[in-house]
Amino acid sequence: MTDAAPPAGLRRQIGGVLKSPKAAYAILAGFAGVIVVLALSSLASLIIDGWIQRDLDLRSALIFRALSDKAAHAGMSDPQAFGAQMQKTADEERIYGLAFCTRDGKRALATAAISNTLDCAEFSASRASEGVTVKTDGANVRFNRFALNLGGVPGQLLVAQNLDEARSGQRDALTYVTAALAAAAFGFGFLTVVMIAALRRSWMSSLRGAIAESFPRTPEQAPAHTSEAPADRRINALLGDLRVRRKFVHGIYVRWSPESLRQLLLDQLPDAQVMIVSNREPYIHNRVNGEIQLQLPASGLVSALEPVMRACRGVWIAHGGGSADRDTVDPHSRLMVPPDDPTYALRRVWLSEEEQDGYYYGLANEGLWPLCHIAFIRPIFREQDWAMYRAVNQRFADVVVEEATCENPIVLVQDYHFALLPRMIRNALPKATIVTFWHIPWPNAETFSICPWREDILDGLLGSSILGFHTQFHCNNFFDSVDRFIESRIDHENSQVSFGGRETLVRPYPISIEWPPRGLLNQPSIEQCRINVRERFGLPLDTKIAVGVERFDYTKGILDRMRAVDDLLTMSPHWRGKFVLIQVAAPTRSKLEAYSALETEAHALAEEINAKYARDGWKPILLLVRHHEPPEVFELFRAADVCIVSSLHDGMNLVAKEFIAARDDERGVLILSSFAGAAYELPEALIVNPYDTHQMAKAYERAMTMSEEEQASRMQIMVAQISERNVYRWAAQMLFDASWLRRREKIVASDNL
Ligand code: G6P
Repeated sequence: MTDAAPPAGLRRQIGGVLKSPKAAYAILAGFAGVIVVLALSSLASLIIDGWIQRDLDLRSALIFRALSDKAAHAGMSDPQAFGAQMQKTADEERIYGLAFCTRDGKRALATAAISNTLDCAEFSASRASEGVTVKTDGANVRFNRFALNLGGVPGQLLVAQNLDEARSGQRDALTYVTAALAAAAFGFGFLTVVMIAALRRSWMSSLRGAIAESFPRTPEQAPAHTSEAPADRRINALLGDLRVRRKFVHGIYVRWSPESLRQLLLDQLPDAQVMIVSNREPYIHNRVNGEIQLQLPASGLVSALEPVMRACRGVWIAHGGGSADRDTVDPHSRLMVPPDDPTYALRRVWLSEEEQDGYYYGLANEGLWPLCHIAFIRPIFREQDWAMYRAVNQRFADVVVEEATCENPIVLVQDYHFALLPRMIRNALPKATIVTFWHIPWPNAETFSICPWREDILDGLLGSSILGFHTQFHCNNFFDSVDRFIESRIDHENSQVSFGGRETLVRPYPISIEWPPRGLLNQPSIEQCRINVRERFGLPLDTKIAVGVERFDYTKGILDRMRAVDDLLTMSPHWRGKFVLIQVAAPTRSKLEAYSALETEAHALAEEINAKYARDGWKPILLLVRHHEPPEVFELFRAADVCIVSSLHDGMNLVAKEFIAARDDERGVLILSSFAGAAYELPEALIVNPYDTHQMAKAYERAMTMSEEEQASRMQIMVAQISERNVYRWAAQMLFDASWLRRREKIVASDNL
């Protein structure tokens, strides 16, 4: 007997088992299991391959769109400049290559990697709607083609991506899936065998004896007791590994969610203290009829940053503006939130009425808001508002320092209420990572020059480690302002400004909505929403509904979309009695003259247009002036045929994205102002100039007569865009950059030791 052979007693028992019919069934079941595992794994391979190709096609479309946007914005009709941009994009996106082929099959431009192998003629005959996979230089390369007119020359932009590289990720995924299936089949088979054996009790006891005789076991050799079987542990480890790899290695496949954001924080920024500073707080306590009521602001910013806070248990610092806010905090002006699962601290900062007048109403909303939005409302700059703005920013900086538990916290500063705060924090906590996001547009340098404190504002913002805007266009405007008003070095290549011995990265981070959106939860069917809304407003079934949902702000173009209704009913009288605009407008900043004047004007205009066309109880404009909760807004979106966003100027505009998210039936048409940041991401909407009333009237008409197929194909692209580029991705991108910056600073610090 060799060392490896089982002892005689055990051999006898095994021989006996193999002869039993139940054992034969078990073996057969084992074979069947292997076949099923192999079949499932090939099916998984096919499905994953399909996903990969679709992902590559979608990514190509996004790359094409980004490139053509850049070309359009830089006015890049010069082929050489476009060629350089193509190379830069190919390098940055790490793709196989880009090329521009003219319509007659000639290659006009190509990036380095494909310039020797690409034959444009090969593509000129095939249809451009789908990706094509071509063997190039020994690799499988997927080509997507998009029509492009470059400086008057019509042609196609080819986006080439290495399919083999993407598939190498698939191989890993497949190995894990097969391993998991095999482990499950093995576990199942094992259990079956054990059960059969358990029926043979006498055999069981002798087998136990034989094993005891052959392999005496000491207590030390006994496996430690755990509630998790070893196979489960292995599967969990494999799946965990797969999850992490999918998220961080194959970045393009990441479906960003609160969970993946949490994972990112744990992986990239473990133990970092994270603080958020914003003017609006995430939880407001108000006293209503003697009772304390909790109000959750329906804000994209809050839904984006809440998961960050929940994951890192940080501190959110904000103005305590609710009427019962003081009654709900501890002696340090803090409370733990969310109320149903307290995980992070909300630190409220108290402001007197005088401070709110100067800092919030005055400098922020009468000065910076109209300065940054081109809406032809003259900004008002008062010295005393500026003094108050400075003082309040300093107060928030002191609170940040008070709340800091280390010398290098990550501080996420939000919006135009805090232009001076980054520098103030930097002075007190030089090692802090300060990420500032400017949620509104940044004006061109000429416009910005009218601000009496332009240098102080730039200096304040350049205290940030990272400064984010919604679009590259706004980053460029910021660079121009810096270039013009302060002594600094601008590095366009790395998108950063060096000022006072420190660098600030200036990057676009387009904000978005949560996906899936909370407002969609528990919504009735589209049909039911249509019935509900029509009943509520007494609208017959054949009436087309357009909706607008805004804060009552002069930047939103509410008057302009009403004037377009007037134009539509004059231009196409057959819509009289058959069309209605439901305009929801939530009162905001009403204390300010410009806002109260707008409300008065909007009421007067709606009445005037209604009086002009009203008949048999029908009127074309329904103006609803009150705050609507997200479920009400989503119901309206789902009942509508058209959603109109006619902002005169807007950093992003999340209403546009919410409307698309609300339409899980892929119907409805979005009319979108070209002056909203969202227009860069959603060119499939009907893009309008809100100052051109007649064009908007024609857009209403076009939207209401658009075929269902066209509506669906536009919606599908926009849904893909928004579900992928959701608000968690927005937060993740900034946190990724912050973690990268911290690592870089660590390396530089160790070099200097
Ligand atoms: C804009 C700003 C936000 C602000 C919101 C509501 O979106 O960028 O910072 O919170 O408007 O305005 P309010 O003045 O009510 O906070």
